[in-house]
Formats: sequence, C-alpha cells, structure tokens
Amino acid sequence: MTDAPLLVTDRDAVRVITVNRPDKLNALDSATLDALHAAFDDAATDPAVRVVVLTGAGPKAFVAGADIAEMAGLRPAEGRDFSLRGTRMMRRVETLPKPVIAMVNGYALGGGLELAMSCHLRIAADTAKVGQPEINLGLIPGFGGSQRLLRLAGRAAALELCLTGAPVDAARALALGIVNRVVPAADLEAETMALAGQLANAAPLALRGILDCINIGGECAIGEGLEYESAQFGLMFATEDMREGTAAFLARRKPAFTGR
Ligand code: COA
Repeated sequence: MTDAPLLVTDRDAVRVITVNRPDKLNALDSATLDALHAAFDDAATDPAVRVVVLTGAGPKAFVAGADIAEMAGLRPAEGRDFSLRGTRMMRRVETLPKPVIAMVNGYALGGGLELAMSCHLRIAADTAKVGQPEINLGLIPGFGGSQRLLRLAGRAAALELCLTGAPVDAARALALGIVNRVVPAADLEAETMALAGQLANAAPLALRGILDCINIGGECAIGEGLEYESAQFGLMFATEDMREGTAAFLARRKPAFTGR
C-alpha cells in the first residue's frame, strides 16, 4: 500500500510507516503532517495492527525537521496553525492505544526529534544525530519539543539542546535518555523488527493499559496516578488474555493472546 508522502506496509501485525521525502531529508510539510495523522488514525482502528514502527526513507534521515521552505513565508497566525497541525498529529501518535517505535535511521532534528519523542520507544542507528536546531533559524521548537524533551530527559538536556541548537550523536542521546537503545546502522531494521515482533505477541489490552497509565497517570499527582493504575489493573481481570497468560504460566506453556 503506497500513499505518498508516506509508505505504509504491514509485516504481520506490525505496521511500518515511512516518511517518504528522501530528497528533502523527510522534512515535514503540511501534506506530510496530515498524511501522518490519517495513517495513525488508521493504525489505531485497524484490529490487525498491534504495533507501529515509524521511520524515514533513505539512508540519511529519520526526519530533518519541519519544512523550512514552507515555514519561511508564514505569518504569525499561520505559524500557530502550522504548530497546532504538527502538535495534534504528534499527540495522536503519543496517545495511540498500541505501541509505536521510532526507528531513528539518521538525522532526527527539530520536528524529527519531536516526532520521535512522541513515539513510545526509540531505537537509533549509531550514525543518528538528534537535536532541536530551531534557534539557528530564529525560532523555537513548535511541535512539543520543549515540553517532551523536558519530560523525557530533564531540564539540563532540554535547555542545552534547545538553547544551543547543537545536535548530539546517538551515544550521547542514549546517555541523556532521549533514545532507548543504539545499534549498529546495519542492524537497525532487524533489531527494531525483533522488538516490534515481541510487542506484537504481547497482550494488546495490557499494552494499552500500560500506555494509558503512563500517558494519563503521568499527567496526574502521584495519588491519582496510583488510583488510575489500580483501576486499570482491576480491568485486566475482565480480559480473556489475563486468564490465558496466568493459565499458560501455571501450565508451563507459551501464552497465545487474542486481544480479548
Ligand atoms: N526543511 C526543508 N528542507 C530541508 C530540511 C528541512 N528541515 N532539511 C533538509 N532539507 C532539504 C535541503 O534544503 C536540501 O534540499 P535541496 O537539495 O532541494 O537543496 C535537501 O533536503 C538535502 O539537505 P542538505 O542540507 O543538502 O543535506 P546535508 O547533508 O548537507 O545537511 C542537515 C543535512 C540535516 C545538516 C541539513 O539539511 C539541515 O541542517 N537541515 C535543517 C535542519 C533543521 O534546522 N531542522 C529544524 C527545522 S525547524
């Protein structure tokens, strides 16, 4: 299935969405933002999809940022609309009820890092570089970068990356907690698909419960977050998968989860 400016393919229960503007290092223009929003809406509702992998086409870039050519001529109200367009799409990614893995195959700059940070997990090639270079354009992050980097990696990293605009390499991104794992570029796809396959075999409603606890509970005071987790935990006892998982453990066999 091809839907420019994205490529969308299914590998069993794993949907792979590839931003497909390699000649522009996969920069996010309005059409690409809208296509991504629609693709994630579709992944959310398609029962055959259990995990999403997001990446960029070509050898150089995951996504090198919001499209600077499109942004150059915008007026303030249009700039705000462009920001909201990207922010709403990335919130769609972040709140997807299925795990989303960013396969960071090269530059993840500006909107590219913001997009990767809206995913639930990030695996980076050792050749990747990440950063928030908007300051070099007289701009600030506009798709949630200041907020997600702060929450993901803390104040020191968020201030350093946003104020200096300097990219960091994959090893430093790992040390800062911005990416989960760094692998040799040649192994990136295999490692990412192995992780995606593992998650595709996990209990979908429990995965969703974990995502909800961290997304929704993470916005609450600790007492409310713990209450929310307990409520979600209780709900799991209504699922066939919980019965299957516990029965399989006790029978010393592998569970087969159905998402019910
Ligand atoms: N928006 C629009 N076009 C972009 C882009 C972006 N964010 N990033 C790269 N491109 C385009 C370039 O304009 C160039 O197009 P052209 O061949 O039609 O001139 C093409 O992608 C290749 O980029 P180029 O700069 O020639 O590659 P490079 O290997 O020399 O440099 C980067 C790579 C990533 C260092 C450099 O492209 C860059 O700094 N990009 C902008 C990063 C940025 O500021 N992002 C935040 C935006 S808010």
